[in-house]
Amino acid sequence: MARLVVVSNRVGVPDRSTRAGGLEVAIGPTLRRRGGLWFGWSGRVADGDPDPTKIADHDNVTYATIDLRKDDHQEFYNGFANRVLWPILHYRLDLAEFTRRDLGGYFRVNEFFARHLEKLLKPDDTIWVHDYHLIPLAKALRERGHANKIGFFIHIPFPPPEIVTALPNHDQLIPALCHYDLVGFQTEVDATNFSRYIANECGLSWAAGNAFHYGNRVVTIGTFPVGVETEAFSRLARRAIETTFVRDVLDSLSGRAMIIGVDRLDYSKGIPERMSAFERFLANFPDWRGKVTYLQITPRSRTDIAEYADIGRLVGEAVGRINGTYGEASWTPLRYINKAHSRTALAGLYRAARAGLVTPLRDGMNLVAKEFVAAQNPDDPGVLILSRFAGAAHECAAALLVNPYDPEGVAIAINRALAMPLEERRQRHAATYKVLVANDLSHWAERFMAALERPPNAANDWTQVRAAGIG
Ligand code: F6P
Repeated sequence: MARLVVVSNRVGVPDRSTRAGGLEVAIGPTLRRRGGLWFGWSGRVADGDPDPTKIADHDNVTYATIDLRKDDHQEFYNGFANRVLWPILHYRLDLAEFTRRDLGGYFRVNEFFARHLEKLLKPDDTIWVHDYHLIPLAKALRERGHANKIGFFIHIPFPPPEIVTALPNHDQLIPALCHYDLVGFQTEVDATNFSRYIANECGLSWAAGNAFHYGNRVVTIGTFPVGVETEAFSRLARRAIETTFVRDVLDSLSGRAMIIGVDRLDYSKGIPERMSAFERFLANFPDWRGKVTYLQITPRSRTDIAEYADIGRLVGEAVGRINGTYGEASWTPLRYINKAHSRTALAGLYRAARAGLVTPLRDGMNLVAKEFVAAQNPDDPGVLILSRFAGAAHECAAALLVNPYDPEGVAIAINRALAMPLEERRQRHAATYKVLVANDLSHWAERFMAALERPPNAANDWTQVRAAGIG
């Protein structure tokens, strides 16, 4: 079996206290199982020229990380990746702040990654590149003569071409995805949007199938909804609810029902909108006042970026307003915490909650939703309230699906979740849990790797048409 080389901006080096977020949750166990190399940014910004790649071996995995220079970090990470691509791919054209300088920094860092990665590459390695930071990486590697199998998976949404084409210079960037052998998306909608982009903007026409020719290669487009370690997380939650930490939290609630939300502080997560919905719930369903506590855990994220400071202020104001209006000396309706919590602590809190509020305005998948379901006690499960705009909504169709832009509708769903009869809760939970076991994390990784490593075959249902002009 070929060695697997994973490349992502964040790398989940095991002894590091900071976590890489959803991406680490997905990649870490996959790589540990199969073994291989994980290459990416060290998380450090160097004052002068960066040190050479640092190599560390743990268990089955070699972690190779590299520092970024200050201007590279600014233009690549804070600039193009997170002030342009992130908002646009989350359908937020209004928040994109494009500069050609940042775009230049983005391409420069992808070249820099290719230059340092190639020193570690063997010709028969299979390379799996992750996420929007590294769209042009395969092209940079191909230009250096690497003919390896290279797959790409984007963890965040891919909007319709009508939105993507508002990105200045999209024609320099998006067609670079044609240098991968496999381009994977979270949902059918994302994959279809990309296919439409390829057809509309690159002059390719699609007769049928999910692949096209690019030069002398076949590029396949696939849908691979990322999963969680459903059964292992369920076992973790069963143990975690007994920990002193979770018991203390439960004691502090004095028998009140708990609603939980866990998100990075990010405008895509719809946290202020969710708080307005909770406020509406307290206003419209006064019987619940004093009987329910909403715990929102929100570690800060991308703090150098102005829009993230803005969303932090908005959330803080909403918390103050709600607690000021509805709180009592003996009851705080909304507990808002920026501290990051361990997986064990979160697993226990999910299991202890009567409802999980996961209401992003747009999300590639949302693994909190899946972990919340995995963590429940099947005999007495809490209810997932989930945005229809999260990728997870497709597999979690038995959750209470809501429109996060409709606070009144979300308030009604909160009331419904808290009042839901046991039998309905059990049925909804069992239906979702079954789906999440069938498509768990290992299934996701195996399906992607199998599609990537499958030899291109003439019987493939692909069609190409005109490669000229791509990339
Ligand atoms: O896919 C979303 C993502 O960008 C991942 O790369 C990462 O897990 C998460 O968001 C956290 O973002 P950042 O790496 O910018 O802290």
